[in-house]
Amino acid sequence: MKKIGSQVTIAIDGPAGSGKSTVARRIAEKLGLLYLDSGAMYRAVTVLAIRGKLAADSPELFEQVKACHIEFQDNGKTILLNAEDVSRQIRTPAVNRRVADVAKIPEIRHEIVKHQQRIGGEGSIIAEGRDLTTIVFPNADFKFYLDASVTERAKRRLAELQRQNVEITLAAVEAEITDRDEKDKTRAHSPLRAADDAIILDTTDKTINEVVDLIVATVCNAEIGSK
Ligand code: CDP
Repeated sequence: MKKIGSQVTIAIDGPAGSGKSTVARRIAEKLGLLYLDSGAMYRAVTVLAIRGKLAADSPELFEQVKACHIEFQDNGKTILLNAEDVSRQIRTPAVNRRVADVAKIPEIRHEIVKHQQRIGGEGSIIAEGRDLTTIVFPNADFKFYLDASVTERAKRRLAELQRQNVEITLAAVEAEITDRDEKDKTRAHSPLRAADDAIILDTTDKTINEVVDLIVATVCNAEIGSK
């Protein structure tokens, strides 16, 4: 594992299935960085909404979000919500259906972003989501926007779900991510978009390792160049 010198922030945004999580995890391991899965935090608060049968914009949910404790363990592999491991629950179809509606509420985003910025202040980090390059870490040292065709993204997500023995069709996965993309890109607060200074990578015809190598090369060349 290569450790990069001074404190570095790498931010990656992109739609569902663009490869952000897998790519960011591998880079975190390779470069010895903290990995921040920002979507997992929105998913965790969606679990609160579902359990409490609370509307996304209800004051009750906001109170619970302010009071809750979210913590990552094992460099992002495990997420604890009020000390309970919810790593599997946050990936259920029920959460997939609700999360974008919860994530569009400005008060909820504000709380989560504060938490993410605190984590980012703790050291070198690679963080991925929808607004990491634009809102959470606008001064990140490296910004990437990953994208791919919707069919390719649906195929990747289907393969992931099949590995977890979830029975679902390609058409259903494609419909779910298309709906979520639309909500994430058109919301009023912190919509998903490529930051003006982000490097845009179309991963449709690329393997995960190719994308990892491209990002690592960009980061390490810049690091060497600055010494
Ligand atoms: O893994 P996938 O790309 O399907 O989703 P995720 O990264 O776990 O994010 C789930 C949802 O949380 C997204 O569809 C957004 O609605 C929301 N999200 C967000 O609003 N802002 C972020 N920084 C990350 C996720």
